[in-house]
Amino acid sequence: MCGIFGYVGSRNDAAIMAVEGLKSLEYRGYDSWGIAWKEEGNLSFRKEIGKISGVDGTTLSENCTLSIGHTRWATHGGVTQENAHPQFNEDRTIAVVHNGIFENYQEIRNELKAKGHVFVSETDTEIAPHLIEEYMKEGNDFARSVQLACRRFTGRYAVVAVHTTSDTLVAARTGSPLIVGVERGKGYFVASDTPAFLRHTKTVQYLDDGEMLVTDGKTILFWDILTGEEHPKREIEITTNIAEADKGKYAHYMLKEIMDQKESVARAVNQDEAEILAVADAIRNAKGTFLAGCGTAGKACMAAEYFFSVIAKHHVNFTPASEFKLYHHFLQPQSLLIVVSQSGETADVLEAMNVAKAAGSKVLSIVNVAGSSIDRASDYTLHINAGPERAVASTKALTGQLAVLLLTAYALAGKLQEGKKLLLEVSSMINDMLNPRYVDRLEALAGKIKEKEDLYIIGKSWNYPMALESAIKIQEVSYIHAEGFAGGELKHGPIALIEERTPCIVLAGNDEVLPDILSNAVQLKARGAQVIGVSPESNEIFDEWIRVPDAGPAQAIVNIIPIQVLSYFLAVQRGKDPDMPRNLAKSVTVK
Ligand code: G6P
Repeated sequence: MCGIFGYVGSRNDAAIMAVEGLKSLEYRGYDSWGIAWKEEGNLSFRKEIGKISGVDGTTLSENCTLSIGHTRWATHGGVTQENAHPQFNEDRTIAVVHNGIFENYQEIRNELKAKGHVFVSETDTEIAPHLIEEYMKEGNDFARSVQLACRRFTGRYAVVAVHTTSDTLVAARTGSPLIVGVERGKGYFVASDTPAFLRHTKTVQYLDDGEMLVTDGKTILFWDILTGEEHPKREIEITTNIAEADKGKYAHYMLKEIMDQKESVARAVNQDEAEILAVADAIRNAKGTFLAGCGTAGKACMAAEYFFSVIAKHHVNFTPASEFKLYHHFLQPQSLLIVVSQSGETADVLEAMNVAKAAGSKVLSIVNVAGSSIDRASDYTLHINAGPERAVASTKALTGQLAVLLLTAYALAGKLQEGKKLLLEVSSMINDMLNPRYVDRLEALAGKIKEKEDLYIIGKSWNYPMALESAIKIQEVSYIHAEGFAGGELKHGPIALIEERTPCIVLAGNDEVLPDILSNAVQLKARGAQVIGVSPESNEIFDEWIRVPDAGPAQAIVNIIPIQVLSYFLAVQRGKDPDMPRNLAKSVTVK
């Protein structure tokens, strides 16, 4: 949540680059934005409410070599110009952009107020420039003052700070991501994510928790915030290309990413076999295997409970990452926590990992973003290789996560090749499915139900977590009230909600639970529901039938895809922006 950016170097369009960089970080927050740049010894700035995507930055100064920027997802204080970042000290000599939360901000703010500081925003961030100023008054230089300020902060944060008298960027992180882009001979970028500087460089350096950096654009130094010990960093070449991070011919990232699934599932399946087998061994030998994730990734974990049960006859426990700490009693050094995360930066997942590590347990992560905090803090990692996912609503990451989890279940059952064959077949089924006629049909179905206020989805076995995921997809982009249930639970309460023509989606497969879910569908139909079947075979109960291929144990992967497409069209036809739904952000770096 919140995207931050900084640049210092020999390019003189630093302000323009800040605007462009922030546009690619907008998925992290989009209620307001701001930049500051250094020009003739002063800090100029621009802060605005709303999205940065339509902003033309090209009219900004072409005479500045240092800038910072921020795109906000509000935590402390409403969406106002005062609360947008950068935040300043009173005489505007220091500017700070921040992602995360300073948990002890009230205490520090009261202390600073007592010393006469006047605050103009409601943010926790504003304490940073004021506190840095205090340390500078004591005779410390700028970088040292940032270091001393960071030692006072509690919580999770990444900050970038600049000062009028210094031609350096100073940045620090504890818990929130910050990556350095190295443009050799020209300068340094710092940003919450690599797309912010991808058009300029693919050479990166990763700042770790508890570290800070200072750069003047020619050299860069990293050190430990607490000990001051220098931490030299390796330069790493990343493989992401700009085209992958762009929406290309599509109107929205969400649709582009849905279509990417024609290839992305095959990339997820293409794992190093030795690594998958090592992971399977780790699960086999673990005393207790837990799965944790948030949102859509959590639904992938939940589906994996069924994969491991049905395919490998192996018991694993899923819990939403935000609930995991309550499980610490069951953890021992021989336990294994499997975390699933697209971004690799979700705060609740990182916290779950800390709980496992504190018990001495090992952590396996299944992530999309290589080099992310979760990736680097894990004992083992499997990458899903979905390519950049920018739309808030997760689509291709989910199917990649499901594919890797299913493959792991097959490996655990000693049937890796069988699993691989199935998943590669599924990949080509997806390629066939996502043809223009199929998409048009879903667009037409969206037209029929777009005015509905409520929508329910049922499933059984691995289609149950997919029913929950379907509800998330529809809610988050179209704002229709949607809820998912296990089919068998209908009669214990939810069926009371069904009225004449209430749309109910039934997710089914050609499997042993088909008769049960069809009988749940009959119960819905008897109460007047409009039954929309998603299944390989049609049935007379269905008012509408969305055909999906018969994918056996991978049915969850193919069943969710038409729901993703339907959600997309529901959003568009209701006049909503599916890429940037209200109140949400893609990367949730606060608890
Ligand atoms: C946010 C996103 C979801 C995502 C969840 C977990 O809520 O909007 O799409 O599933 O975070 O994110 P992660 O990056 O850990 O998969």
